[in-house]
Amino acid sequence: MGRKVYLDNASTTYVSSEVLAEMLPCFNAIYGNSNSLHSYGREASAIVDRARDRIAHAINASKSNEIYFTSGGTEADNWAIKGLAHAYSNKGKHIITSAIEHHAVLDACKQLEDEGFEVTYLPVDKTGLVNMVELLHSIRKDTTLISIMAVNNEIGTIQNIKAIAKIAHDYGIIFHTDAVQALGAIKLDVQDMEIDAMTLSAHKIYGPKGVGCLYLKNGIRIESLISGGNQERGKRGGTINVPAVAGFGKAVEIAVRDMAINQQKLRSERDYFLRSIEDKIEYVSINGHPQQKINGILNISFEMVDNESLLMLLDMDGVAVSIGSACTSNSAEPSHVLKAMGLDENIIKSSIRISFGKNLTKSDIDYVVEVLEKAVAQLRSISAITKAGRK
Ligand SMILES: Cc1ncc(COP(=O)(O)O)c(C=O)c1O
Repeated sequence: MGRKVYLDNASTTYVSSEVLAEMLPCFNAIYGNSNSLHSYGREASAIVDRARDRIAHAINASKSNEIYFTSGGTEADNWAIKGLAHAYSNKGKHIITSAIEHHAVLDACKQLEDEGFEVTYLPVDKTGLVNMVELLHSIRKDTTLISIMAVNNEIGTIQNIKAIAKIAHDYGIIFHTDAVQALGAIKLDVQDMEIDAMTLSAHKIYGPKGVGCLYLKNGIRIESLISGGNQERGKRGGTINVPAVAGFGKAVEIAVRDMAINQQKLRSERDYFLRSIEDKIEYVSINGHPQQKINGILNISFEMVDNESLLMLLDMDGVAVSIGSACTSNSAEPSHVLKAMGLDENIIKSSIRISFGKNLTKSDIDYVVEVLEKAVAQLRSISAITKAGRK
């Protein structure tokens, strides 16, 4: 088999060996139900508690019982949006979010609209930052919840979460953030940032798929999304996936412990890639904020190139990138994020997301640049939008 290079770490990552080692005993040696009262159950429950402590510590939650395990980021987002909106619906039925949220948030909001809630989708500027003036203007007496993602999964732009949370609290509004892409990339301190509810997921930080959590500050009410048991202090039914939770706890601990070194590595990979293509490929533009962004995600347009064809050509040479996010990459719809940023349709249709990982080598990147240069040249030679027609 030919060479393969994975540049889609914002979609998911492999499970690191340290994390796997933490998980393995939970599949057979320690197999009790963490809800059972006997010793097997207590043993499993101790593992779950340990993971909860690790995550609480990593995000500076004041208590471990503010962490509620879920089946991933999608469930945590759905739970936060619907559960908080319902719990506070006697106060009002207006919610504020942004136009560039993950579909887990956007679709949950759409469902609430069907139920009679009103939702404001804040616009963003060309760099993907939420317009703070619009945010202030959109606050109403009946606004109960503001949900703005910490880091966007397509462009990597970092929002001004602390400032947004402050505005929310000045008006007595609850603040939720989807921090799935922020975990391990920027410091998350829920007390300092005044976050009431926060979504996290394991599989973007070298943990297992299908597990995540909702941080929920004590005192904030929430309606359950999944009923059927008294797990997670009666708020989220279902037997806990102990191996996954154990892996999640370890992955979070490592991601926070190694954040500086990982970020340095990702930055040098990205910069090396950009330097390498600089005089090899023309008509390239980078989408997102020039500075206020995480190092691991690079959204880049190769003008006069169709992004789906580019993805396929790269894949034929073993290079994995994505168009927008993994959740929408099967749909023909252009990225809602790039659209909201007001980018030209041709730029959107020629954009791919390259997301770097901590195990890439310089030689991997050299290989990617080589196949990218070839693929871009091939597609441009057959492109209907010629250089002359370029805007
Ligand atoms: C910003 C963001 N939110 C939520 C999710 C969903 O998380 P999960 O895959 O754990 O359901 C993702 C992952 O695709 C994401 O990038």
